[in-house]
Amino acid sequence: MTNLILLGPPGSGKGTQSKRLEQKLSVIQLSTGDMLRAEVASGSERGRETKALMDTGAFVPDEMIIGMIASRVDKKDCANGFILDGFPRTVPQAEALGEMLVEKSLKLDYVIELTVDDEAMVERICGRYTCTQCGSGYHESFQKPAKEGVCDTCGGTDFSRRTDDNAETVRARLLAYHEQTAPISTFYGDIGILKQVDGMTAIEEVTRQLENIVS
Ligand code: AP5
Repeated sequence: MTNLILLGPPGSGKGTQSKRLEQKLSVIQLSTGDMLRAEVASGSERGRETKALMDTGAFVPDEMIIGMIASRVDKKDCANGFILDGFPRTVPQAEALGEMLVEKSLKLDYVIELTVDDEAMVERICGRYTCTQCGSGYHESFQKPAKEGVCDTCGGTDFSRRTDDNAETVRARLLAYHEQTAPISTFYGDIGILKQVDGMTAIEEVTRQLENIVS
């Protein structure tokens, strides 16, 4: 079993690299952003409140996220381990995760931070799009499908963009990251489990560096 956290600002490549590591490690990616977007898509009252926060780049309440993760890690598909993408995002979330893992007799094997320059993140995020059929991610400049307009994975031709992927919201998300999430690096650094990877190199190179750490 392998459990790891991928840390990093919006656009640093957490989602891109989690998908690649999922296959390498036979573990499952747990993205709190994806879980919240599923809640929004369900049209529930909680989904409407969540969307209002996400669209401004603000975080949703800690208790909601912690509850979501606590029940998710009990699912059968986490038996080989998980990659936490987007969680924890605040020090209280990191503390709650620690307690949760002790209760469930689980442990963290790696916490890896992707280090990037903020300015490049606006371009990365604003150029990102996703296949609506299978969820594969692409980028206008950095990760194009082999055939323009056709998903490499499923052959789908319909793509979408996230409503929070605009320059103004990205700047708010980066600010929230530096104020509330960056202290987590210190939290895991202090317990000696944090490793850093240069997230500014090409996607393949970042994968190579991550694989070096986890293999
Ligand atoms: P979430 O969905 O987690 O978004 P995020 O953290 O802002 O991260 P992103 O998904 O935008 O970026 P990423 O690091 O995954 O980058 P990606 O691989 O796609 O959260 C959204 C919102 O939900 C939050 O703002 C908050 O409101 C709420 N939320 C979520 N979790 C929460 C929590 N725990 N607590 C409270 N609120 C929470 O890459 C981006 C693009 O760049 C892609 O197009 C990719 O192709 C490209 N790319 C990736 N790597 C490279 C590279 N090395 N070189 C060039 N291009 C690259």
